[in-house]
Amino acid sequence: PIKVLRTVDAVRKWRKPQVLDHRIVGLVPTMGALHEGHLSLIRAAARESHHVVVSIYVNPAQFGIKEDLASYPVTWNNDCKILAELDRELADDGGNLGRISAVFAPTTNEMYPAGFPGQEVDSKGSFVVMTPVSELLEGRTRPTFFRGVATVCMKLFNIVQPEKVYFGQKDVQQTVVIRNMVRDFMLPIDVVVGETSREPDGLALSSRNVYLGERRRRVATVLNRALKAAEEQYLNGVLDREAILKAANSVVVDTLNEQMALGPEQRVKYEVDYISLADPSTMEEATNIDPKVGGILSGAVKMLPVESPQPGEDLGHSGGPAVRLIDNIVLKPS
Ligand code: PAJ
Repeated sequence: PIKVLRTVDAVRKWRKPQVLDHRIVGLVPTMGALHEGHLSLIRAAARESHHVVVSIYVNPAQFGIKEDLASYPVTWNNDCKILAELDRELADDGGNLGRISAVFAPTTNEMYPAGFPGQEVDSKGSFVVMTPVSELLEGRTRPTFFRGVATVCMKLFNIVQPEKVYFGQKDVQQTVVIRNMVRDFMLPIDVVVGETSREPDGLALSSRNVYLGERRRRVATVLNRALKAAEEQYLNGVLDREAILKAANSVVVDTLNEQMALGPEQRVKYEVDYISLADPSTMEEATNIDPKVGGILSGAVKMLPVESPQPGEDLGHSGGPAVRLIDNIVLKPS
């Protein structure tokens, strides 16, 4: 059975003999509410690590004060069931080096011994900060987000001492933040990035998709469709920033016009936070694409609360507030 470790001490006790035996430990940090995106990272970890540790911790420091910390889905029993099933699947597949050895699920007292972590820019405590990458894109709307992510990951890395850590491409800016942190602090860790898992219609899997409800779920593909239209330009040889982004913007505008033609009992409104074309290693906006470097097309869209909810309409897990979705596509160097 998979061990459940709750304290830093318990992880250290488990970890020590693995070092002495030269066992490779791979860590997959998560906030739970596990879905196929998380599982694909765990599968990748099991192929190259003797022991996979999955952490499940909803990290308060990466939520802003007005964000969804209180409503973030917590599905501990189901997560345990999913991990046990996946572990059986890993055992049956001879191609794996390891299995899920432990789940690390600490309390906030354990993770933040100095007190509840600040969710504001000027809060007290020790934090890991990366500039400028943590101020761009996601960091603009969420000023303490990457500080919270980097800080909790530094803690997790110091507790588990993994040789390898696994992050999803879905959160591309997060992967850049973690790579920079590992490089800048000389952490002896290999950062592995796994590709984005999607629904059949292209929507990137996310624990937050349960917030959408049926009506907004149907329109939520707009961001992926916009990014794909922009990617198509690049694949056709277009390297000009404005031309590439224009393709994405047309999809966004056309879809909004379609929605506005519907009545309030049917339509879905959304706001685009940003659509970006950035350098893959810094996330700074790219002017024109250097085909030897490629780029990252990314975006964030806020699906606004449904208007005129119909009797019995499924408004999603959180009952209706705006839901922010992100996605990205890598423009590969040619
Ligand atoms: P969480 O959103 O739970 O995601 C955990 C890991 O799963 C992240 O590396 C994320 O990029 C990856 N992931 C999420 N959706 C994915 C998808 N559709 N396809 C592939 N991978 C996906 O990201 C976090 O938690 C937190 O910020 C964390 C790193 C745990 C720090 O608190």
